[in-house]
Amino acid sequence: MKEYWINRARLASGLALFAYVSLHLINLALGLVSIEAMDAMLAVVIVFWGNPVVQAVLLTSLLVHFGLALRALWRRRTWRMPPRELAQISLGFIIPFILLSHITKTRVAADVHGAHITYAFELLQFWVRDPFNGALQLLLLVVAWTHACIGLNFVMRIQRWYPRAQPYLLITAFTVPLLAVLGFFRAGAVVRELAKDPAWIAAVDRDVGLSADQKAHLAHLILELRLGLLALLVGLLMVRYVRLLVLRRRGMVTLTFANGKCIAIPHGTSVLEASRDAGIAHASICGGRGRCSTCRTHVTCEDNSGGLPAASNFELGVLQQMKLPPGVRLACQFRPLHNVKVTPILQPSQAHRAIMQGAELGTEREIAVMFCDLRGFTALSEHRLPYDVVFLLNRYFAAMGEAITDSDGHIDKFIGDGIMALFGMKSNPVSGSRQALAAAARMSARIDGLNAAFAHELPEKLKIGIGIHSGMAVLGEMGWGTAKGLTAIGDCVNTASRLESMTKEYGAELIVSEDVERNCGLDLSPWPSHEVTVRGRTTPLLIRAFPRARELSNAVSLAKAACALPQEDAA
Ligand code: FES
Repeated sequence: MKEYWINRARLASGLALFAYVSLHLINLALGLVSIEAMDAMLAVVIVFWGNPVVQAVLLTSLLVHFGLALRALWRRRTWRMPPRELAQISLGFIIPFILLSHITKTRVAADVHGAHITYAFELLQFWVRDPFNGALQLLLLVVAWTHACIGLNFVMRIQRWYPRAQPYLLITAFTVPLLAVLGFFRAGAVVRELAKDPAWIAAVDRDVGLSADQKAHLAHLILELRLGLLALLVGLLMVRYVRLLVLRRRGMVTLTFANGKCIAIPHGTSVLEASRDAGIAHASICGGRGRCSTCRTHVTCEDNSGGLPAASNFELGVLQQMKLPPGVRLACQFRPLHNVKVTPILQPSQAHRAIMQGAELGTEREIAVMFCDLRGFTALSEHRLPYDVVFLLNRYFAAMGEAITDSDGHIDKFIGDGIMALFGMKSNPVSGSRQALAAAARMSARIDGLNAAFAHELPEKLKIGIGIHSGMAVLGEMGWGTAKGLTAIGDCVNTASRLESMTKEYGAELIVSEDVERNCGLDLSPWPSHEVTVRGRTTPLLIRAFPRARELSNAVSLAKAACALPQEDAA
């Protein structure tokens, strides 16, 4: 549980600081309007930031966030890490050095010396009196913003909505600092013009009300604070190094990877850190925060080397939530005390690809699942040459496959003469259900096309049965070797399969569940509904049966689904 709360504290403190930085950037962007506009907004936000409760929250957030960064530095056993993580950590430690100057010259100046800081004064300092410090302060905001964006990216990228929101977030991430920089330059140009008048400078200084002694005191304070911070960091790194030497003397454990590579690591090193240190690629989408489970690794104890250390409550929570079998541990949390064999379950590229395809690894998502079966094909193929059977089946698969992919569906697998397809993995349940219905209508139209093409060769027309259900399913890369792919598991899949079987019972080409009907938002009332019991479900399910799926063409087109039927299919 401790790690859970630490993650929460890191996120909460980070969000508070992110709000602080965001308001500063927006305030700077107002420089594109005027300095008066900047000061007007500052007057409003200063009331907010000046509130004792908000100040306490902000200060606590700063200390907590920095404290957690020091903790992470202390716990880290290796400096090898993905570039994004390295950037995140480096930026995190640069920020306090620059921030100290800003806080001292604004908040400390106001609270200790009663100064009234204005943007005119700030810009005068930054653009005329101390341009180097001005550049540093601007850098601070951009660095803090980048650091926050990387951190939020680590948190959000495992969320199911993230792939859809990513383009908008990316635009925001670039637009906000860009506008702030432009505002800073525009206001700076105005101030440099105004500063040619000594009377204006005197008026700005008078407004602020800081004496030369007070300014010297602030400058001295900044130097002391920065030196103190530097001493803290250097001290921590030195103690950390001494600890590493002590741990090495106490003993090492050996990790043996599936490819036979062995590495010796000091006690207390996590498997993920060990992998990185040895240059072994290891999936870790959340950056080792125990949130994504992509680092999951199969662990076995080597002979006579003792048992595995128990998982912490935090790790146990993730393992149980993911229903991971015994012997699987999170590489970022598991710190072996004895020699072990480790086999990472996911390849980094698979984890990343699945996330970018909108599929969360092991988390649930609502999708539409379709099963389709070719009726009576066994009897049909009995008196045909194997070559003919293969030829016919391939024509059938091509026609059905095109209908599914043309409707933005994902062909999960071909099972004998059956097909399983998934819809809405990259969008939402509404689009997914509409896409599945559009695919069914297309498939029905294409079966008619195949029957016309094979009219003289087939004793009976080809018929299909399709079942569609929408519900929660676990998405992820499953399988082994070349038989591995993105698929879905869950009751939703089983129910869709049962609906497909029911098409025989109801003499229908297509059966859809009430969940699909509700999601798609189309008027399906003209088609008969039935209440059915589906094995494995405790409650009855309402379904609609369609004698021909292509009857849905108009309903789907009218709904202006993105996947409206093309002319040749609807004909
Ligand atoms: S890296 Fe995300 S849980 Fe381990």
